[in-house]
Amino acid sequence: MDSPATVMWTYLAVAVAAAALASASTPVVPGLGVNWGTIMSHPMLPSTVVQMIQDNGIKKVKLFDADEWTLSAFAGTNIEVTIAIPNNQLARMSENCKNAKEWVKENVTKYDHGGIKIKYVAVGNEPFLTSYNGTFIKTTFPALKNIQTALNEAGVGDRIKATVPLNADVYNSPSSNPVPSSGDFRSDIHDLMVDMVRFMHSHGSPFMVNIYPYLSLNLNPNFPVDYAFFDGGGRSISDNNHQYTNVFDANFDTLVWALKKAGVGDMKIVVGEVGWPTDGNEYATLSSAKRFYDGFLKRMAEKVGTPLRPGPMEAYLFGLIDEDMKSILPGNFERHWGIFTYDGRPKFPMDLSGNGNDKYLVGAKGVQYLPAQWCVLKPEVKDDSLVGTNIDYACYNADCTSLGYGSSCNQLDNRGNTSYAFNMYFQMQDQDVRACDFDGLAVTTTVNASQGNCLFPIQIVSSAPIPLAVAHLAIGRVVLVAIVACALVNNRTEEQKYGNAEESEASAKDAVICHEAHRKVRPGSLNKGGRWGAMLGFPSTGS
Ligand SMILES: *[C@@H]1O[C@H](CO)[C@@H](O)[C@H](O)[C@H]1NC(C)=O
Ligand SMILES: *[C@@H]1O[C@H](CO)[C@@H](O)[C@H](O)[C@H]1NC(C)=O
Ligand SMILES: *[C@@H]1O[C@H](CO)[C@@H](O)[C@H](O)[C@H]1NC(C)=O
Ligand SMILES: *[C@@H]1O[C@H](CO)[C@@H](O)[C@H](O)[C@H]1NC(C)=O
Ligand SMILES: *[C@@H]1O[C@H](CO)[C@@H](O)[C@H](O)[C@H]1NC(C)=O
Repeated sequence: MDSPATVMWTYLAVAVAAAALASASTPVVPGLGVNWGTIMSHPMLPSTVVQMIQDNGIKKVKLFDADEWTLSAFAGTNIEVTIAIPNNQLARMSENCKNAKEWVKENVTKYDHGGIKIKYVAVGNEPFLTSYNGTFIKTTFPALKNIQTALNEAGVGDRIKATVPLNADVYNSPSSNPVPSSGDFRSDIHDLMVDMVRFMHSHGSPFMVNIYPYLSLNLNPNFPVDYAFFDGGGRSISDNNHQYTNVFDANFDTLVWALKKAGVGDMKIVVGEVGWPTDGNEYATLSSAKRFYDGFLKRMAEKVGTPLRPGPMEAYLFGLIDEDMKSILPGNFERHWGIFTYDGRPKFPMDLSGNGNDKYLVGAKGVQYLPAQWCVLKPEVKDDSLVGTNIDYACYNADCTSLGYGSSCNQLDNRGNTSYAFNMYFQMQDQDVRACDFDGLAVTTTVNASQGNCLFPIQIVSSAPIPLAVAHLAIGRVVLVAIVACALVNNRTEEQKYGNAEESEASAKDAVICHEAHRKVRPGSLNKGGRWGAMLGFPSTGS
């Protein structure tokens, strides 16, 4: 007969198992994370967003800065966080080790002790985009070295790794032979990239790459649509006995080849951003986004990997929430990458377990809205001579990206367009009555102005503690995916050369000076750190 103690333990075990089952009802694919960008006029409370992340079982989050307000919301959640140093801080981090050490002290060690699980420090964001004209070529690598050194010195370098999230345009295949196996790093930054990946490899840091099949499709009218997705049906290419049925795999394996050629063929690769926008362009639709994510998540769950890297993958979806203040230089779709709307509603069915069930994610709870009122063109206005400049003004200051060709509000007539623009501006200005005037053309109404699929939104009560936008001068991922994807299908060469080899040389030199100067101050750290030998040169690891 069971003793009371045994019975109690049995009950406990059952209770624990039941709890595990309950929380495991939506097990997210292992390795899955999300990017949480905040270039928005009306952000939700960080605690609301973190709760939403937890409600969906997401265990990894990548941020684009180290904002205290945002980060604090992760305390006690067990969510792995990637924090970042924005590009405009790279010069400061590269200048001297002191700045890097202070950054790590204030933005890593403090939180590490405060129970926040920091996993990676992203040094810059896509700093080598060709559209940056080489601006960050000299500073990125020295900043990376200084940050990794500072992490090591703070005693967390074994757990927390510095890496540089890069756009897939840092590698490509020649158009004469557009297959993954002919892939290598872009010629203008080739030597810099080789040095950088060897450095990261020697420190156990992963290569973080952003891969966007959507951009391949969007950039190229001849791109075979099915090749952007994972459900086959389109063309495939064959390379070294491997079949490539989608551009993601071809792109990823081009990187694998570039790493092999740099002598670090076993380097871990993390997909820092992958996703599909839902508005602002004819291919940016809910159904295409659903198709893309369904395929991607299923493959992650099945641990398919790519032909050269079969197995599980670590990947961060881009992005969590729409950002209405992102630059639209790359296109109107830039403000519509969220798997959630601006107010935390799931946009389309999405199964993060990869089982392909048509269920919706759990939305944000307790979001507070402004009153249900809209700003529209006065019905009696006949003379539209003043309308044009007022639309321009509204759309310059607010987000009208849903009005464009192929977008959700493209079906509106002229009056509809005008009302849409007026309302977006009115909401952006927190429904200030003075923001619904427009030379006397506008009026507020409590009648829902939405038409068909075109939502006239009501803005939420902003939780922004400080005026936003200023902090983020990001250009966005200024569409440049001149990779095997494009080469494959349109046969065009994009040899845009900015920056040059001399710059790469200079960067390596600066860094060594920094570390040597530092070494003079604390010679003891040579032995303590254990990594210093590697810091000063590039061990030919793996080659
Ligand atoms: C820490 O990160 C914040 C937010 O990104 C930044 O404003 C601050 O300057 C950083 N601290 C240091 C010491 O660099
Ligand atoms: C890069 O150069 C182009 C052409 O000269 C210019 O239009 C663009 O604004 C520059 N971008 C940056 C980030 O400096
Ligand atoms: C506004 O409405 C007209 C139809 O009358 C349409 O042709 C136009 O593209 C719409 N969008 C904008 C941004 O003006
Ligand atoms: C207005 O109507 C749209 C479309 O029917 C709907 O989705 C939205 O929730 C409505 N807004 C409000 C505040 O009721
Ligand atoms: C690429 O262009 C060259 C010359 O213009 C042509 O001979 C070749 O067949 C093209 N390749 C593909 C894959 O279209």
